[in-house]
Amino acid sequence: MRRPFIAGNWKMHKAPAEADALAEALKRALADVTAVDIAVAPTFLAIPAVAARLRHSNIGVACQNVAVEIQGAYTGEVSAEMLKTAGVQYAIVGHSERRQLFGDTDAIVGKKVQACFRAGLAAILCVGETLPEREAGQEETVVARQLEAGLAGLSADQVGTVTIAYEPVWAIGTGKVASPAQANDVHAFIRGWLGRYPSFVARNVRIQYGGSVKGSNAAGLLSQPEIDGALVGGAALSVEDFVAIVKAAAG
Ligand code: PGA
Repeated sequence: MRRPFIAGNWKMHKAPAEADALAEALKRALADVTAVDIAVAPTFLAIPAVAARLRHSNIGVACQNVAVEIQGAYTGEVSAEMLKTAGVQYAIVGHSERRQLFGDTDAIVGKKVQACFRAGLAAILCVGETLPEREAGQEETVVARQLEAGLAGLSADQVGTVTIAYEPVWAIGTGKVASPAQANDVHAFIRGWLGRYPSFVARNVRIQYGGSVKGSNAAGLLSQPEIDGALVGGAALSVEDFVAIVKAAAG
């Protein structure tokens, strides 16, 4: 059985003091949860405070992006190695906002996944189609292309440790959630796609759903056989909502 994994993407919210307060509240509220892997992704700036707060807790720290390179003249970038030394364990890579607003192409996303392995961060690779792509029936083609590029060059053992987040772009921040069946269908497609590797890969890889997950809809999504967790945006900023989502995953 795959262990459920709930991650909160705080996006560009919460300066260090506020991020620390949210981390502290989550740490208290979730201290007794043992059956779920949990992580939160603050801004780069708030990572040191949150990592210090969550040390020796059951909540891991994720970053929202990594640089391709290790170090050098790359203004505005932060490398996976630097994030690792700051106490980060997981990295969200290829989020649709990075792809749409900041020019992260499929090829760049693949390089960022490689950077995660180079530095020892656990990658959460985001994939998902836009509304026009879904309306044209292209969701599987798009997701397959993103998987192919995102996982290029990795060994089967490495792919087996990646988390995939299926996030239909039309459901992100829109309040328009994919139905449990709609999400499960694409998750099943992703797991089938992983069948090109030895069978342990598809068995082990966790596939999170992301896109307007809230306390009120989490149980329905998480009860689907192919949905192993959630990548949560807006609702991850609310202690009440995020705790409800984690508890739904704990069953
Ligand atoms: P949302 O964001 O939960 O606010 O829709 C999800 C995400 O972007 O990961």
